[in-house]
Amino acid sequence: METVLAIHNISKRYGKIQAVNDLSLEVKKGQVFGILGPNGSGKTTTLSMILDLIRANSGSFQWFGAEPSKESRKRIGSVIESPNFFPYLSPVNNLKIVADIKNMGFEDIDRVLRLTMLYDRRNTRFKTFSFGMKQRLAVASALLGNPDVLILDEPTNGLDPQGIAHIRELILQIAGQGTTIIIASHLLDEIQKICSHVAVLNKGKKLFDGKVSEVLAISDSFELASDDLESLTKAIRSHPAFQSVTPGEGTVQIYFKNVVNPAELNRFFFEQGITLTHLSERKRSLEQHFLELLDNNK
Ligand SMILES: Nc1ncnc2c1ncn2[C@@H]1O[C@H](COP(=O)(O)OP(=O)(O)OP(=O)(O)O)[C@@H](O)[C@H]1O
Ligand SMILES: [Mg+2]
Repeated sequence: METVLAIHNISKRYGKIQAVNDLSLEVKKGQVFGILGPNGSGKTTTLSMILDLIRANSGSFQWFGAEPSKESRKRIGSVIESPNFFPYLSPVNNLKIVADIKNMGFEDIDRVLRLTMLYDRRNTRFKTFSFGMKQRLAVASALLGNPDVLILDEPTNGLDPQGIAHIRELILQIAGQGTTIIIASHLLDEIQKICSHVAVLNKGKKLFDGKVSEVLAISDSFELASDDLESLTKAIRSHPAFQSVTPGEGTVQIYFKNVVNPAELNRFFFEQGITLTHLSERKRSLEQHFLELLDNNK
């Protein structure tokens, strides 16, 4: 599959703060790629570098297999900061100005207004727009000219549930047309709902990346006890789904790489001559899983 964006070891420092630390990433055509991390983890800094809004201290990146250029820039639409539109102008007239700046005709304006569900409001002044409508106009503006890549920084920040749903639907619709999308978000739920791939950042460093379905998969855990905890701990290591074990008080907590059912687990121990005196299943929420991942990488 064609590589749309390749980032090689980019770093950015602000004084003492290492905002981005030796980050490498690859985004392929058609992916909805999430950059997930808590506040201050370097998401906006990363997006700003790949959009040439700020310069990296070191490292490099390529768009569409070539050095970044005016040509590659034309193939990318983005919403990074809250956009400035003229308050007394209608969305149509605001988009005409954007189109002029982008050196393109006005023929795409109706399409992007329809796509963002603003067509009915196309002739009312921007200042009368709700916050959600303003956000959607920003996306409309980024979509002018039908770019190959759309970059969005926290697209649902500050929106109400309905506004969030609108934006999510819109993103999925655009992705469905084959546009590659890169989204920064601190919301696990958001990434999980709309992204195919994710890179998790913490303190400017990438913790891991991959398919959302794999990286953010919940690993089930069980709390177990038996009269002989030592043999239990030894035996569990040979379980095909074994991931890790944490000792508790008179119990052990076992994490599995994938779903394991309690009856099967009981049988597994029984066959090895170990009788469980306690077995309780604990399903971790994704949120909890994500927090633990960040926690382990402090
Ligand atoms: N212009 C700047 N000057 C100084 N420090 C900066 C600047 N921009 C960002 N930083 C610092 O770099 C780090 C990363 O910031 P960045 O905005 O990239 O994080 P983020 O992941 O986008 O966070 P958020 O989720 O809050 O948007 C933070 O510690 C931030 O304070
Ligand atoms: Mg940010």
